[in-house]
Amino acid sequence: MALDGQPHGTTGAGAHRRPPAWLSEAVIYQIYPAAFADSNGDGIGDLRGVREHLDHLAWLGVDTLWLSPCFASPFGDGGYDISDYLTIAPRYGSNEDADALIEAARARGMRIMFDLVPGHTSHEHPWFLESIRNPDDDRYIWSDRVGAPVRGWIPNHAGRGGYYLANFYAIQPALNFGYARPDPAEPWRQPVDAPGPRANRAALREVMAYWFDRGVSGFRVDMAASLVKDDPGSVETGRLWAEMRDWIDREYPGRILLSEWGDPKTSVPAGFHADFFLHFTGTALRSLWDNGTGSQGSWPAIGPCYFDPDGGGSMGTFLDAWREADKAIDGAGHIALPTANHDFSRLTCGPRTRDMVAPAFAFLLTWPTLPVIYYGDEIGMRYVPGLPDKEGSQLDAEARQGSRTPMQWDASAGAGFSTAGAERYYLPVDPAPDRPDVATERADEGSLLHHVHRLIALRKQTPALRSGGTVRVLHRDYPFVYLRGESHLVVVNGRREPAGAPWPASGPAPRVLAAHGVELTASGIQAAGFSYAVYELAPGAQVSAYEDADAATAD
Ligand code: NOJ
Ligand code: CA
Repeated sequence: MALDGQPHGTTGAGAHRRPPAWLSEAVIYQIYPAAFADSNGDGIGDLRGVREHLDHLAWLGVDTLWLSPCFASPFGDGGYDISDYLTIAPRYGSNEDADALIEAARARGMRIMFDLVPGHTSHEHPWFLESIRNPDDDRYIWSDRVGAPVRGWIPNHAGRGGYYLANFYAIQPALNFGYARPDPAEPWRQPVDAPGPRANRAALREVMAYWFDRGVSGFRVDMAASLVKDDPGSVETGRLWAEMRDWIDREYPGRILLSEWGDPKTSVPAGFHADFFLHFTGTALRSLWDNGTGSQGSWPAIGPCYFDPDGGGSMGTFLDAWREADKAIDGAGHIALPTANHDFSRLTCGPRTRDMVAPAFAFLLTWPTLPVIYYGDEIGMRYVPGLPDKEGSQLDAEARQGSRTPMQWDASAGAGFSTAGAERYYLPVDPAPDRPDVATERADEGSLLHHVHRLIALRKQTPALRSGGTVRVLHRDYPFVYLRGESHLVVVNGRREPAGAPWPASGPAPRVLAAHGVELTASGIQAAGFSYAVYELAPGAQVSAYEDADAATAD
């Protein structure tokens, strides 16, 4: 139900588009390929390494693996600078290794998603090399009139001279999808249907079709909002993606696009199946778990986050943004929440140690979001400060490399990541003597890994807890208390201090589906520090709101 009492999907975007059912049940797991598992001892993770760990991931319960770019690249931006979209980077293996991974995942009921980088190529891509040579080529955005240094315009010292527009780093020239406000006086501001922009749209479809035909289930779409330039309200960029969505629905039904846009209320109605709340747009995500001690040095402090060990945060900022986006999306897709990603700090960061993050997972896995777990967060791998730049990871004040360290598989010196000498590792393994690892945590039922395993299993067994579905917030402070599907009550206390609240339901005692540090006593809910619980209410139980109750709904 939406807030106005209308079921979702009767008006607006949701009236005609729905995400495939598999996405509504998915738990996505992001893999940074260079750092996950090295199968051939060269110190760099690879596709075969991912394949060798599929049984573990299937046990964990994640069902959709999104791999950051694994295509041919000079790796000036960790592979987000692609020189050939259709070829797996040799360091990661071959296209046949991709086939084998997709097939091995399929055999376990899992899906593979790749990363689509539509807005720019590497400066070494043959398209760009041709564009440098050929003054008539307009696959990129060229000007001969911009006086350097102008932000984003990069002088070209070869061939046609002039300047090209970069999309991110200078080594990432922007592909030309046109301008929303063309201007003949500035001839590089081409309309969106000019030949260059049209050729790039066609190329985008070819890239997607190539990997769809090889069996990938979808793409995470890098900088999805960046395509059409000078585009107020992202209207033309939205139209471009609507066109892509129509094409997918026609040619590849059931495949999905998950955008890195960071504004689901705009991107999902435009056509994406899901979009993230992210660290760089608004403060909704950061108000949950950015405690200001990690990689996000370039954003102003936002005050205590909800999952700050010392408390003092509130769910208010998040809930306001959630409600607004959920209403605009109207059932057409999902809002994805990442535990972290390769661009910002992990959950376990600064003073928030791994024994404190289970409640964050409880929230993620019982909220009607599309949950996205960043590799290693499920064992409490920490954001490692103080590492040097690796392949463009240091972005101004943001030390993204701290979130890209090798996966910790076991307690051996190299953490089971690689048989290479440590000096050849993609990045150093976390040097902390008490660093967590998969083997140790799998042997310990009380470990974070087992919490996450149980919570994923609970979500999968319990339709009321999945993406979409209704949610009613009963208490937005500590503990955070909410009702899913009118039948399941969730209690989350993200801070060190215990917290209490009255039990809000009438009728017989509920069934306890998960409980970690929460007790129901005569005086109500007693939530210890860093605790959570999930209850199934007795049939017919009436639930009353607390004073600061809030509503955030989805169906
Ligand atoms: C966003 C990616 O997540 C980031 O890692 C990359 O540097 C930029 N886009 C440029 O592609
Ligand atoms: Ca390797």
